[in-house]
Amino acid sequence: MTRYLSGIQASGIPHIGNYFGAIEQHVTASKELPPGDSAFFFIADYHALTTISDRETLRRFVRTIAATYLACGLDVKKAVFFRQSDVPEVTELTWLLATCTGMGLLERAHSYKDKVAKGLSPNVGLFTYPILMAADILIYDSDVVPVGKDQQQHVEMTQDMAGYFNQRFGQGKELLKYPRWVFSRTPTVPGVDGEKMSKSYGNTIDMFLEGNELKKAVNRIVTDSREPAEPKEPEGIPSLTILELFLNDQERQEWRERVRKGGEGAPGYGHMKKEIMARMDARFGPARAAYKRYLEDPVAEREMEEILVEGGKRARAVAREVLARCYDAVGITNRARP
Ligand code: ADP
Ligand code: TRP
Repeated sequence: MTRYLSGIQASGIPHIGNYFGAIEQHVTASKELPPGDSAFFFIADYHALTTISDRETLRRFVRTIAATYLACGLDVKKAVFFRQSDVPEVTELTWLLATCTGMGLLERAHSYKDKVAKGLSPNVGLFTYPILMAADILIYDSDVVPVGKDQQQHVEMTQDMAGYFNQRFGQGKELLKYPRWVFSRTPTVPGVDGEKMSKSYGNTIDMFLEGNELKKAVNRIVTDSREPAEPKEPEGIPSLTILELFLNDQERQEWRERVRKGGEGAPGYGHMKKEIMARMDARFGPARAAYKRYLEDPVAEREMEEILVEGGKRARAVAREVLARCYDAVGITNRARP
C-alpha cells in the first residue's frame, strides 16, 4: 500500500515546467492508482505566504492551481485534492519538527540560498519553509513524493527530520514514516532564458497561453546567430529542449538527427518555435475551456470549492491521527485538546 503525496505553491500561474515536472505525473497517478494505494495532492497556500502579500492575489492563485488540476483531469474520486490551510494541524507538526531541526540543516537549503541571492529579503517563514514542507509530507504517512528535481533537497531534509524525530521520541519505533521522492521524465525544464523555468524568475511559458500571448512567450526563448544549415549539437539549445517535452522518442531522435546533420532543410530556431506553439495548442488546447470555466463560471467555481472542502476533510482526518500519535510521543497529552 503506497501513499503518494505532493504539493504545489499557490505563488503564480502554472507553467510548462510545473506541468512536465510535476502536474502531469500527479494527474496520471490519480487516474492509474492501483487499488489499495492512495494519492494526496494539495495547493500550498501557507507556503505561498512566504512571498505573497496581497489577499486577492493569493486567492486568485489558489483558484488558478485548482482549476489547472481539474482541467487536466485529476481524478478527484481516487485522489484527495485539497488546500494546505484546510489542515491547520500541519502547522502544529511544523513546530514539533522545528524543535528537532538544527539551524545548519536549514542554512544549507539551495532554494532558500537562491532566493536570497536573487535579492529577495527573506522572512523567517521562508527560512523555515522546509520544515513546513516536511510536516506536509510526514503528517499523511506519505511513502512517495512526485516532484521536480528542484525539490529533491527538500525531501532529503524531510527524511532527516523524520530521522531526528524518531530518534528523539520514537523509543525504537518509526513514529514518522520515511518518504522518498520520484521524478518525472523531465525533472528540470528550462525557461525562455535557458535557466530553470520558475514563476519567481519571470522566464516561464504558462500552460494555458493561446494566440498572440503564446506567440510572445515562445518568441522570448533565447537563440544564437547560428544559421539553420550549420550542424549543431542538440544539447543546450533551449528551443529544442522545450520542443522535446512534447515529442515521443522517435520524433525526438528525428529532430535531433536533423539538427546534428545541418544542411539544407535542417530546422532553424523559428521552425522549432512554430512547432512548440502547435504542440502547446494540441496538448493544452482541449483543457483551456474547462480551465476558463472553473475560473469564470460561478457554478463551476462552486463545484471546485466543494471538491477542495471535501478533500480537506479527508486529508484532515488522516493528519489528526498522525499528529495525535506525535503529541502522545512527545508528552503532550492534555485532556482539553479536542
Ligand atoms: P516555481 O519554481 O515555478 O515556483 P513550484 O516551486 O511551485 O514552481 O513547483 C511546483 C512543482 O513543479 C514542484 O514539484 C517543482 O519541482 C516542479 N517544477 C517547478 N519548476 C520546474 C522546472 N523548471 N522543471 C521541472 N519541474 C519544475
Ligand atoms: N515546495 C514545493 C514547491 O515549491 C511545494 C510543496 C510544499 C510540496 N509542500 C510540499 C511539494 C510537500 C511536495 C510535498 O514546489
